[in-house]
Amino acid sequence: MKNIVLFASGGGSNAEQIMSYFLQSKTVNVALVLTNNANAGVLQKAAQYNVPTLVFTKEELSNGFVLRHVQAFNPHLIVLAGFLLKFPADIIAAYPGRVINIHPALLPHYGGKGMYGIHVHRAVHENKEKESGITIHYVNDNYDEGNVIYQKTVAIEECLSPEEVSLKVLALEHEHFPRVIEELLLGN
Ligand code: GAR
Repeated sequence: MKNIVLFASGGGSNAEQIMSYFLQSKTVNVALVLTNNANAGVLQKAAQYNVPTLVFTKEELSNGFVLRHVQAFNPHLIVLAGFLLKFPADIIAAYPGRVINIHPALLPHYGGKGMYGIHVHRAVHENKEKESGITIHYVNDNYDEGNVIYQKTVAIEECLSPEEVSLKVLALEHEHFPRVIEELLLGN
């Protein structure tokens, strides 16, 4: 059994898709959900799937507390699914090539500090892009700059608002993220 741990900051719809996808799996186990937000919807979702949770402070993320907690679950992969804080260097160093993130646009465009969630879709919409998409990538010490694992595009010409773009991109995330995680873990 390969353990994965999920970091999320908000509603956790991607985390939910991942927990659901691996619910009956004999090879992949979602061992822990971590969040910096005590009000995050992802906490209820984890409870529904009987996945343990940890709520932590920014200080605990940077002082080694979160790293020690993660290590206790022996993860093969650390998955950032809508995690909005800078990921700490000590966890990246402890799990080289084993921390991944999903970004709701086609990196290297529309990434970097402050580019998350609706901010990304607003910028894409304002620039009248014909396409957006998702990027699943390794996490390094710079926001949104790690090597790309997988990208998928979606036509957004007919979207009338950033919210419409966000719905199209989120549907793509839900469709592809669990499968890409599985392929990374099982080496298909
Ligand atoms: C997702 O669209 C994810 O790509 C994005 O936050 C959303 C979280 O939704 N992440 C970023 O913008 C990271 N820079 P969710 O909580 O419903 O999964």
